[in-house]
Amino acid sequence: MRATEHPTFESEASKLIYEYVERHGTAKRNVLLDIAPVSSDEFGTELDRLKSRGYLEEDGGTLQLALDVGAIEEHQTDVGVVTIRPGRQQDFEGLVDAIRDVTSEKTYVIAESIAEQLLYEETVTRHNRVASRVFFVATVEGEVVGWTHLDLPQVEKVRETAQQTVGVTDDFRDSGIGSLLLQRGLDWAEANGFRKVYNSIPMTNDRALEFLGDHGWETEAIRREHYTIDGEFVDEVMMAYRF
Ligand SMILES: CC(C)(COP(=O)(O)OP(=O)(O)OC[C@H]1O[C@@H](n2cnc3c(N)ncnc32)[C@H](O)[C@@H]1OP(=O)(O)O)[C@@H](O)C(=O)NCCC(=O)NCCS
Repeated sequence: MRATEHPTFESEASKLIYEYVERHGTAKRNVLLDIAPVSSDEFGTELDRLKSRGYLEEDGGTLQLALDVGAIEEHQTDVGVVTIRPGRQQDFEGLVDAIRDVTSEKTYVIAESIAEQLLYEETVTRHNRVASRVFFVATVEGEVVGWTHLDLPQVEKVRETAQQTVGVTDDFRDSGIGSLLLQRGLDWAEANGFRKVYNSIPMTNDRALEFLGDHGWETEAIRREHYTIDGEFVDEVMMAYRF
């Protein structure tokens, strides 16, 4: 299923099964059989339908969302081969660690709330009628070293603008990984019909402001004294990229 598509259901059981997996990130087949108010035969039919419609995928009895967000890319950099690919539920811990590593610098406030949201919801990808988010991760030798995340509003009037965040752990910076992630997120947003992405940065985060400026982002607005960081008021710079 594409992330811009609203899920629709042919039966209440189908909806229940999908929503359970969506909320939990992954779910075992036997647990779903328990929560679905149908016989085991009907359950099998409903599940097959969700899989054939491209809503869910199954691996060894574990179900997860089957959002089609693209391919796995490999890039040679000075820190070795970097893989950029869609984030999966299996990346949960690595992703939270990477976001925590980046936000410990206290210069990227928006990403702090994303880490909290992930931990609260315990799922990487979300796709329902209210909210949708996709992650791409950068890995080096299997370790998550960076991410980009797009928060996709499902409300009609803002459906063409998405919030994008990006971060790379300290040891892997200045090797082009942030640029690869940023571009992957932008390419995805453009291919999926978004006309603008935005990102908000504390004015004191010079590196991020320069990075976004170098990649064609523009300042849309400044909110005065929006953050309190270490007891100091700090302005927020709202930056955007238009396709
Ligand atoms: C901002 C951030 C994501 C950049 O990540 P990064 O991996 O260092 O980004 P890149 O390596 O692609 O680019 C950084 C600089 O390295 C240099 N660089 C890029 N490719 C390079 C390469 N192959 N070899 C050496 N240097 C390179 C560039 O000069 C670039 O400078 P620029 O910002 O003027 O374009 C990272 O510093 C970060 O996570 N910061 C904290 C989180 C944050 O503030 N995020 C805000 C989102 S913008």
